[in-house]
Amino acid sequence: MKQRIQKIITLNVNGRDYDISVGEGRTDMPESETLADTLRDRLGFTGLKVGCGQGACGACTVIMNGKAVTSCMMMTMDCDGARIVTIEGLADAVTGELSGLQRSFVENCGYQCGFCTPGIIMTAQALLEKNPEPTEEEVREALAGNYCRCGTHYSAVESIMAYVEQKKKEKEGCAQ
Ligand code: FES
Ligand code: FES
Repeated sequence: MKQRIQKIITLNVNGRDYDISVGEGRTDMPESETLADTLRDRLGFTGLKVGCGQGACGACTVIMNGKAVTSCMMMTMDCDGARIVTIEGLADAVTGELSGLQRSFVENCGYQCGFCTPGIIMTAQALLEKNPEPTEEEVREALAGNYCRCGTHYSAVESIMAYVEQKKKEKEGCAQ
């Protein structure tokens, strides 16, 4: 028997629209699916990680409509029409070149195992979009919800601050 499609919702992920049918059919998305599972398992954005699944570690952070959110705590059903950016959306879409913020993590050894890193970078990215020149204290405050089990919080903060300083220098160079 043919399954009835209850609803089609659309997510815009990294600039591309994805239509998702919600229902009870084999390929439909159940109403109870979290955004983290939809992004990872249904759409293939496996850069975000699921650690606690309870909103406590920040590993699943993505940017939704300009704000950093923990995707394990959101029902995809409630995200219809949302604009979402995942870690995959930061690199250059054509060349694959990492963003300046991502490069700064590589250059400053901002991670160990890397499990928490996509979430930390997305939290930092959301902060920098609102406040391009944050203080170290503001960065630490923004990262309060991101847990790193390897203990690389310090080098993550250093990586972000190195990027902020570099952007400041570039700006000053342009102004001269
Ligand atoms: S997996 Fe979402 S906050 Fe930990
Ligand atoms: S680098 Fe391993 S969890 Fe943060």
